[in-house]
Amino acid sequence: MKILVTGGCGFIGSHTVVDLLNEGYEVVIVDNLYNSKIDVLDKIKKITNKDVTFYQYDLCDYEKLQEVFSKEKVDAVIHFAGLKAVGESVNKPLMYYENNLFSTINLLKAMKSYNVKKIVFSSSATVYGSPKSLPIKEDFPLSTTNPYGTTKLMIEQILTDLYKADNSFDITILRYFNPIGAHKSGLLGEDPNGIPNNLMPYIVKVATRELPILNVFGNDYETVDGTGVRDYIHVCDLSYGHVLALKNSKSGLKIYNLGTGHGTSVLELVKTFEKVNNVKVNYKIVERREGDIASCYASNDKAKEELGFSPKYNLEDMCRDSYNFVKTNQ
Ligand SMILES: NC(=O)c1ccc[n+]([C@@H]2O[C@H](COP(=O)([O-])OP(=O)(O)OC[C@H]3O[C@@H](n4cnc5c(N)ncnc54)[C@H](O)[C@@H]3O)[C@@H](O)[C@H]2O)c1
Repeated sequence: MKILVTGGCGFIGSHTVVDLLNEGYEVVIVDNLYNSKIDVLDKIKKITNKDVTFYQYDLCDYEKLQEVFSKEKVDAVIHFAGLKAVGESVNKPLMYYENNLFSTINLLKAMKSYNVKKIVFSSSATVYGSPKSLPIKEDFPLSTTNPYGTTKLMIEQILTDLYKADNSFDITILRYFNPIGAHKSGLLGEDPNGIPNNLMPYIVKVATRELPILNVFGNDYETVDGTGVRDYIHVCDLSYGHVLALKNSKSGLKIYNLGTGHGTSVLELVKTFEKVNNVKVNYKIVERREGDIASCYASNDKAKEELGFSPKYNLEDMCRDSYNFVKTNQ
């Protein structure tokens, strides 16, 4: 079976490509390398000893995308490509709407015209806005607080409408919680350009002295120690969720949370990172950041029951692997 992986050179995409190759799938990657590097392909080869076909194309270019579909005869698509920085999306909303929506609409149009009906889409827990209770279930009300989140919600709506119009589509929407960690080999991990937006890459850069100090946004939330609580999941558990989604596929529109079901505060994450890696992470408490919510963690019961999803890695593994990736690549 041949899978088109959009954004396959990125953080989650590259780990998923490794899983797909290890499971015997053929893989075609389309990535414009806007937020990733070409050497990821060599690293995937090193880990799996298998080749992928790569196109450095922008999904917003419909002609190029058609060329891929006509050459490759793919059976299914996993759609990771997109811009993902919440703060940047607030300052550059048009860039986010243009990239994330045009690319997805092009992809779906190409799928329809080449009769490819199976897609797994990367959505996000951000579509739950400020949840009224925890853990978050898939049928909770949806809302967003920033343009990035709105692109995810709009794409979910587009997929829903597409399925209504043509119910031979097999659509799986995966709502990720907070992926961290890295591949055991130290070859693949999260390697953002510039100042990181997410907590773990920031912690790592403070630990390696690339950044001076971690700002912890607020310590007066109603949580275990006042700092924000999130559901961190090892990227390898998350990536394997995509293999399970492909294996369990059948016509329909299915939505699953991918998280561990456990909440961890910012300070708990910092302390665990310091302990397992034997390093110091300097931090200071600053004002709450606008738009942040106190706590967010998943109910993953549906993914467990229907996909057989079962996260293997704990917080210590996540902290160890995140740091190992950066040390290996310094
Ligand atoms: N990492 C997270 O915390 C998180 C959480 C929830 C959801 N997601 C979603 O999961 C997906 C993957 O996230 P990630 O962390 O691997 O991000 P990433 O930035 O590492 O990977 C995305 C990849 O898509 C590529 N890309 C972007 N726009 C493109 C376009 N128009 N054409 C071709 N390639 C394009 C980038 O170059 C990059 O390699 C994204 O859609 C993201 O919104 C991520």
